[in-house]
Amino acid sequence: MSAGRSNGRRLRILALMHETLVPPADVTGIDLATADWKTEHDVVSTLRGLGHEVRALGVGGNLGEIRRAVHEFQPHIAFNLLEEFDAVVGWDTNVVAWLELSRIAYTGCNSRGLLLGRDKALTKKLLTYHRIPVADFVVAPRGRRFRRPKRLRFPLFVKSATLDASAGISQASVVEDDDKLAERVRFVHDNLGTDALVESFIEGRELYVGVLGNDRLQVLPVWELHFENLPEERRRIATERLKWSAAYRERHGIETGPARDLPPELVTRIGEVCRRVYRNLLLSGCARIDLRLTPQGEVYVIEANPNPQIARDEDFAQSALSAGIAYPDLLQRIVNLGLRWEPTRLT
Ligand SMILES: Nc1ncnc2c1ncn2[C@@H]1O[C@H](COP(=O)(O)OP(=O)(O)O)[C@@H](O)[C@H]1O
Ligand SMILES: [Mg+2]
Repeated sequence: MSAGRSNGRRLRILALMHETLVPPADVTGIDLATADWKTEHDVVSTLRGLGHEVRALGVGGNLGEIRRAVHEFQPHIAFNLLEEFDAVVGWDTNVVAWLELSRIAYTGCNSRGLLLGRDKALTKKLLTYHRIPVADFVVAPRGRRFRRPKRLRFPLFVKSATLDASAGISQASVVEDDDKLAERVRFVHDNLGTDALVESFIEGRELYVGVLGNDRLQVLPVWELHFENLPEERRRIATERLKWSAAYRERHGIETGPARDLPPELVTRIGEVCRRVYRNLLLSGCARIDLRLTPQGEVYVIEANPNPQIARDEDFAQSALSAGIAYPDLLQRIVNLGLRWEPTRLT
């Protein structure tokens, strides 16, 4: 594949990752499938396999260390695997902003897209303006009394306004009356320590769509979380348990894979929606859009995930693979997109 090899150019790549997730130099005898640093290892080893010179840098809360590494190593590009900085989830956005100020090329999404795409409430406000269907919602801020607006009818879905990875999401996130709603809002405030989003519950199938690109966008095949085998009475949602427990998924025959039996015109419509989400949130590099498809065939955007999880066996890479983009080619494309991205064009 032509995009696959960057014309054979050997690059110096500074891989930025959380300081506790730097893969050990020698991985013999370690079960890679369950290692916390699996993604980091997949990326670093694959980039090396492509012939690049890769330095893995653990980032805690010291920007000076990135600066020093850049000075010493003179990377062509930083491969961004950060999700936080100084233990603040979301501050990776600010690191990207710093890379932009420092005129260092980086992979993944630009700082403005990260800012918009990571904020679920702001995302939904923007998408509403562009008439892209999202669940109706209200924010329940911490420290303030919450009252349900009349227009929001049960069942409702309550989640953290800022956290991701299904944090705090369980069957109890779906509420049917005001008492349970108040209880769940309190749970998000007290246990997760964030504002809460109260949304209309969208019944239906759960779809994930990868998008790659800066200007010309490639939409990857529609992926689906198959939870058809979940017991009748359970809500079909991606709970924390479902996301993190392989045993639970196995017990209930839950897996992700290509979406089955979608009419071609629906696939086209979903692709169009995802492109518009990507552009209107000013995303770049790559992202995964989470959607729900109702039994009536309506498509709702749940959220955008700039800089999605890109381990080899995760949805994004698996979906790329099914489109004929092997993992090394995928990473090389992400690098090429980063090299070509001009942050100043958003200013
Ligand atoms: N409004 C909603 N209606 C139905 N299910 C929802 C809704 N919002 C979230 N969910 C369920 O909760 C999961 C996690 O929500 P999401 O906003 O994607 O958060 P995260 O950032 O944790 O992935 C979704 O994948 C979906 O299954
Ligand atoms: Mg999600």
